[in-house]
Amino acid sequence: MKTITLFNNKGGAGKTSLAYHLGFMFAELGHRVVLADLDPQANLSTMCVTDDRLEAIWGQDPRPTIFGAIDRLRRGLGDVDRVSHESVGGSIGLVVGDLQLSELEDDLSQQWPKCLDRDERAFRVTTALSRVVRDVSDRFGADIAVLDVGPNFGAINRAALIASDYVIVPVAPDLFSMQGLENVGPRLKVWREAWTDRRSRAPALDFELPKGEMAPLGYVAGRHSVMGGGAVKAFQRWIDRMPLVYRRSFGEPEPAEGIDVASDEFCLAQLKDYRSLMPMAQEAKKPMFLLKPGDGAIGGHQGAVRQAYDDFKTLALEVLERMNVAQTRA
Ligand SMILES: Nc1ncnc2c1ncn2[C@@H]1O[C@H](COP(=O)(O)OP(=O)(O)OP(=O)(O)O)[C@@H](O)[C@H]1O
Ligand SMILES: [Mg+2]
Repeated sequence: MKTITLFNNKGGAGKTSLAYHLGFMFAELGHRVVLADLDPQANLSTMCVTDDRLEAIWGQDPRPTIFGAIDRLRRGLGDVDRVSHESVGGSIGLVVGDLQLSELEDDLSQQWPKCLDRDERAFRVTTALSRVVRDVSDRFGADIAVLDVGPNFGAINRAALIASDYVIVPVAPDLFSMQGLENVGPRLKVWREAWTDRRSRAPALDFELPKGEMAPLGYVAGRHSVMGGGAVKAFQRWIDRMPLVYRRSFGEPEPAEGIDVASDEFCLAQLKDYRSLMPMAQEAKKPMFLLKPGDGAIGGHQGAVRQAYDDFKTLALEVLERMNVAQTRA
């Protein structure tokens, strides 16, 4: 089982939309997939599940969510608990998100330095998210877990990245998202090294520690912007900068000549602004590329749906290929 996280510390870069659509496309391609909502905003869960169903899930005690799974550990009453996935179609299982997950932030921050003292609880808390995702994935028989996280460099995200074999950076064509791209590489390096150090000091434990490889697979260049409007020319200016900024961020050699994003080896895909397909998909609780006329995708929308299918299929195949390459290298 391999884990991939969509990560950019700036908001609105397209992490959640990409996690959702990639997850569904992996399933289309025959994989069993776990989607893990590790963002306390719980947007991925909202995309997958109706509000009524979410309300029912959040009303249960204990809650079958990521928070429910770590609550007893957080309160010092035990370890992570088994939590059931929410079925999202036959081959996709969702680890439901929870607004209360933010309560784990302080404990995670406090336990992080204590790993250096070989403290057992510190390792239990630091790896809690990783262990829940792995446990759900193993029981579901998933071969890929896609993790969605919030837009920050906080302790919850550090714990999520420790759970990640691979990272993809979604980038929207605006200043904030580009600054995020610039910051992500150095931050992952710091986290990877700090975890490798802590891991080497771990006491004997009754569970396996994640490697926390966080291998970067590349970036996905979006054309939508949460900054609203914007001239196509202005978007293109940001997109043109992505190849260089990615290389600087991840310490890859910079070529003498400028690189076109279309031929950039680190650009996994350029995604369109799918405009009205996106709200339609959210309403129908379906990925854009599976929308039917009955969901409102009539007339010209059907062409856009087919285009989206092709775009995400190409992207998913590229990601799978790179994961295999990275696997053989490792
Ligand atoms: N390719 C796209 N075409 C059209 N709209 C998009 C596209 N990708 C994302 N969006 C829209 O942009 C907004 C931000 O996307 P999304 O929620 O996926 O970003 P995010 O990085 O997860 O944000 P946050 O940092 O708040 O978690 C959403 O309204 C989403 O519907
Ligand atoms: Mg999000």
